[in-house]
Order: sequence, then C-alpha cells, then structure tokens
Amino acid sequence: MKGGYEHYMQKEIHEQPEAITQSMRGRVKQQKSAEGNPYLQQRIKLGGLVETRDTIRRSRRIMFVACGTSYHAALAARQTVEEMVEVPVVLELASDLLDRCCPIFRDDTCVFVSQSGETADTLRALEYAKARGALCVGITNTVGSAISRATHCGIHQNAGYEIGVASTKAYTSQIICITMMALALAEDSISKRERRDAIIDELGALPDKMRSFMQVQDVAMKELAAQLKDSNSLLFFARGNNYATALEAALKCKEVALIHSEGILAGEMKHGPLALVDEHLPIVVVATRDSMYNKMESVIQQLLARSARLIILCTAGDATMQEYAKRSDCQLIEVPGTVEPLQPILNIVPLQLLAYHMTVLRGHNVDQPRNLAKSVTVT
Ligand code: UD1
Ligand code: F6R
Repeated sequence: MKGGYEHYMQKEIHEQPEAITQSMRGRVKQQKSAEGNPYLQQRIKLGGLVETRDTIRRSRRIMFVACGTSYHAALAARQTVEEMVEVPVVLELASDLLDRCCPIFRDDTCVFVSQSGETADTLRALEYAKARGALCVGITNTVGSAISRATHCGIHQNAGYEIGVASTKAYTSQIICITMMALALAEDSISKRERRDAIIDELGALPDKMRSFMQVQDVAMKELAAQLKDSNSLLFFARGNNYATALEAALKCKEVALIHSEGILAGEMKHGPLALVDEHLPIVVVATRDSMYNKMESVIQQLLARSARLIILCTAGDATMQEYAKRSDCQLIEVPGTVEPLQPILNIVPLQLLAYHMTVLRGHNVDQPRNLAKSVTVT
C-alpha cells in the first residue's frame, strides 16, 4: 500500500510529479500547431468549464472559498487568476465567510476548493453562496463528493487518493488546477498570449523539474530536520505568491511535527514580527528568483543585521544567495527555477520534506497527527 515508503505522507510527497501530471493529463496541450495561427488554438481544455467559461469571465468578482491547505492553494494562485482574467479576486476562509454572513451576489463566481469535497464549512458556504444566486465552481480531488455534486460545474483534480492527514500532493495539484482555470479563462486574450504560452510551456516541464530534486532534497531535509527538530518555534518569511508557501510550510510543521510555527508576510516584518528575531530562532526565508527577489534580499540583509539564524530557500545556483550563505553561515535550500506563477509548487516540496523528517525524528505519528481528522465533516 505504501509502495516501499514508511508513511503515506512520505509516499504522497514523492508522488507529486505523477499527481500533477495526472491533473494536467488531457487538459494541457504542449505543442503549438505549426499551421495557422499557433496562438489562437486552444492549449488548455477543461471539460468541466466549457459551458460556464464566459459567465465566469463576465462575473463581477471571483471568490475562492476553502479551509486550511486548500485555502493556501487558492492564495498561491490568486495572482495568476488576477493577471490572466483581470477580474477582482477575493479569498475567503469558509468558516469566516459564514461567521460574517459575507455579502455574495448573483454576478459573483464562487470557487470552492476542497481535496475531500466533504469539508463541512466549505459545503455550508457553498449552500450559502448558491442560495444567493452565485455561480458555484468546485475544485475537488474526490469525484462524487458532496462539493463535486453540489457545485454547478468544476474541475476534478485527479491527483489520486490522499491518505495522510497532512495534505501534500493535493496542495500542489490544486495550484495546478487553479492555474489551468486562469489560463483557460484567458484563452481568447491576444495581449496575454505570450505570458500564457510561457506558463503552459513550463507546466509541461514541471513534473521533471520536481523529480530532478526530490531525492537530493529528501536527504538534505533529513539533515536539516535533525538540526531543527528541537526548536520551540520556526518562522517562514515570504512575500508575493510565496506567502502561501510560508503559511503552508508553517501549517505542516504545526500539524505533523507539532512545532509552533508561523508563516509571515515579509512586507509586514517591521510591523511586529521583527521583535521575535534573535540568534536562536530558526527562520526560513523564501527568496527564489521572481519579482519579489530584490525585496526578499533586503529582508535577508535586515535579518542578518540582527544576527538571525537563517535558512534561505533560493533558486539553484544563485551566486548572490550562495555568497550570503558563505559570509553569514546560513544554510541554503536550492530548488529549480520556473515561471513565477508555478514557483510555489516547487518551493513547497523541500518544506514538506522538512516537516515530514522532523515529525519522524520527534517520534510523532505522521499519518494520524493527534486531534486531527482527514476530513472535517462537522463544524
Ligand atoms: C471528464 C471525465 C473524465 C474523461 C474526460 C474526457 C469524469 C468525472 N471525468 O473529465 O473521466 O476522461 O471527461 O474528456 O467523468 N464538476 C463539478 N464540480 C466539481 C468538479 C467537477 O460540477 O467540483 C463537473 C464538471 O463541471 C464536469 C464534470 O463534473 O461536468 C466532470 O469534471 P472533470 O472530471 O473535471 O471533467 P473532465 O476533465 O472533462
Ligand atoms: C492540512 C489539511 C487541512 C485541509 C482542510 C481542508 O494539511 O489537510 O488543512 O486542507 O481541512 O480540507 P479539504 O481540502 O478536504 O476541504
């Protein structure tokens, strides 16, 4: 069942190249046709959204509704939807949407993201939005689940059954699905075609990129886990779409390794969190080469000026970051580079492995963390 792995979480982390391939199978066309206008042909085919595509594009706003890791996936892909569709995008935690009786209108599109498709808060939020006349779209990994059935249309993730309570492969697959949705909605836009093609080309390369560093990172993260396992707390700093990476990595550390952890938007650093920084508290800083790179470099300098104990997650071969590591004795986690919308998919992998190995070394139950259930079917 575990295919040679000790735990389902470990198996599911390693399965991610295959899981994202499955999510894209039959939906992403890699070749641009040689004849005719190569750009006007359809490269993303989402059977579930064919009939509702125009309605979604015309909506007043797109609202993503989810809980936990699924919410983080929506956060990671929000910018891509904003950029591609040019419709305001808002994110809602399902429980909070219900607590606030959030206004929802007929010309809203609400997208419910749920691995299990059974999460009670997300399902109740769906009923709430449906009653207000919004178009309800599902993104779920479970065919026939309550959310899959109750939504007007949607996308099945096809990532394969996820058993470990901590969501891993469903997360990266959700980012893929939301990104494909954004690309499909922008299909007719001439002004977006170059950018869209660049993302689609990288989607094709992504599984192999992920495969290429999985084993190396597994070993490296086991070593890092041995150094960090007795920490009382761990912080993850990031900004842009990697804020989701920081939140998701912190959630993994909390829920399986049982270590207090926080994901911090680096832009907020000076508004409070900086006070926590000293030479003992380990801080992982996400500084891959994207539009946030310069700002993250400045964050690194400010943290190092306060003698912070840094671990820098950067693009493989980044000489600037290698120099920081050498001069300031901080560690590097190197990941392959890709286009900005997809970078969070690669960045989270070593951090999932880190949380996994810390859990094992601390002797906690990996697949059934205390007090948690895979599917939260009560509110
Ligand atoms: C579908 C088939 C797939 C087949 C492919 C061939 C299913 C489940 N999928 O995949 O086996 O290989 O056509 O073209 O039979 N939906 C919701 N809510 C959700 C998720 C999906 O309403 O949360 C709806 C969709 O709008 C769609 C249907 O379920 O009507 C199937 O969705 P999906 O599996 O994503 O569609 P395809 O990828 O076209
Ligand atoms: C964390 C985790 C949870 C779920 C959340 C939503 O690893 O698994 O935070 O993401 O309970 O579950 P779904 O996606 O099934 O609605």
